[in-house]
Amino acid sequence: MDLEQRSITADTITPHFERFFGHKPEVISAAPGRVNLIGEHTDYNNGFVLPMALERINVVAVAPSTTGQHRWVGSLKDAPITLTPEEASTPGDPFWSNYVRGVICMLKRRGIEVPPVDMLVDTNVPYGGGLSSSAAFEVSVCTALSALCGADVPPTERAIIGQETEHEFVHVPCGIMDQFISANGKKDHALMLDCKDLSYRYIPMVDPDVSVLVIDSAVKHSLADGGYAARRKNCEDACSILGIPSLREATLEMLEENKNKLGDLCYRRARHVVAENMRVATFAAALERGDWEAAGIAMRGSHASLRDDFEVSCAEVDTLVALSYTIPSAASVYGARMTGGGFGGCIVALVKSADVEQVAKEMLEGYRETLGIETAYLVTRPGAGARLLYKA
Ligand code: GLA
Repeated sequence: MDLEQRSITADTITPHFERFFGHKPEVISAAPGRVNLIGEHTDYNNGFVLPMALERINVVAVAPSTTGQHRWVGSLKDAPITLTPEEASTPGDPFWSNYVRGVICMLKRRGIEVPPVDMLVDTNVPYGGGLSSSAAFEVSVCTALSALCGADVPPTERAIIGQETEHEFVHVPCGIMDQFISANGKKDHALMLDCKDLSYRYIPMVDPDVSVLVIDSAVKHSLADGGYAARRKNCEDACSILGIPSLREATLEMLEENKNKLGDLCYRRARHVVAENMRVATFAAALERGDWEAAGIAMRGSHASLRDDFEVSCAEVDTLVALSYTIPSAASVYGARMTGGGFGGCIVALVKSADVEQVAKEMLEGYRETLGIETAYLVTRPGAGARLLYKA
């Protein structure tokens, strides 16, 4: 995964748009990737999550097409693809175009007809490392297209459109977290979301002494997609056995009482979800009173539970998290855990700002020495959610 920062603005994308299409964009949108601080595999169980938006964004520039056909360019280096209005709202190739086709279809279902558009996409959200580059893409496309149509689609609705696109056009059975934070993120704030009713609150993260460090494991296991769906199934099975609509209604006592009926696997999966919801509450309270030690402990507990009970970590990610305890500067790390769906991807750590570069250096060195893998990191503040960069 390339973690190199490259700034993208309305000014940087406009000349490229003109180069491809020979006219100016009418709308330019941006939507961020995310890192989840805590609350993993809880969203599709009606539970709590606590992510923050990254400063990395997906940027979409659009204008009505001058040809009657859609013309889309997926990156600055791509050639345009051409689609008929009919094709633009049905699944097809190339694969990346489904993120746009899905959004156009979902807008159509809501009575919003997107005319043929010329569209250029540029992004600095690292791709394929669990930082929600897909959600950023969907939400950015939806933000641009709804604005172009003059339709007021609120952020949460744009998030739902993104999730529906994943389900129906990308065939990823994801929860709502990634799209929700991309649409609703707020600079200098984390967001605590109740996935049962989509109510949320912002929690300020402005302490200059604490930094968010994201380190890529540089691995993605091919099991990933099947593994995610399998975990969802385990959770649903646990609910049917317990006779409850979702694991939100479960308690640790209930799980203990029904341990035999649940069987070891469903018991452990459910225990992760129930305990993780409690850790989100603990973490949120710690964040609010600036108790970074307590926040870090909750993160460490989350990782152990994802590793042992939910079994979505992997050797490489566990190595990174283990290094956060053993590097010479370990005392500067409050806590670390895997972030995102798992089976590879990134870890997130809360680190004393004064030492964050040193911690990152030691982590990368340790990782290279232990596993022979070169990797990269980024230090980030909570970024803003989806927005328009320009409207003619
Ligand atoms: C992926 C999904 C999210 C969420 C996480 C795990 O990122 O897209 O909906 O389920 O995994 O917490």
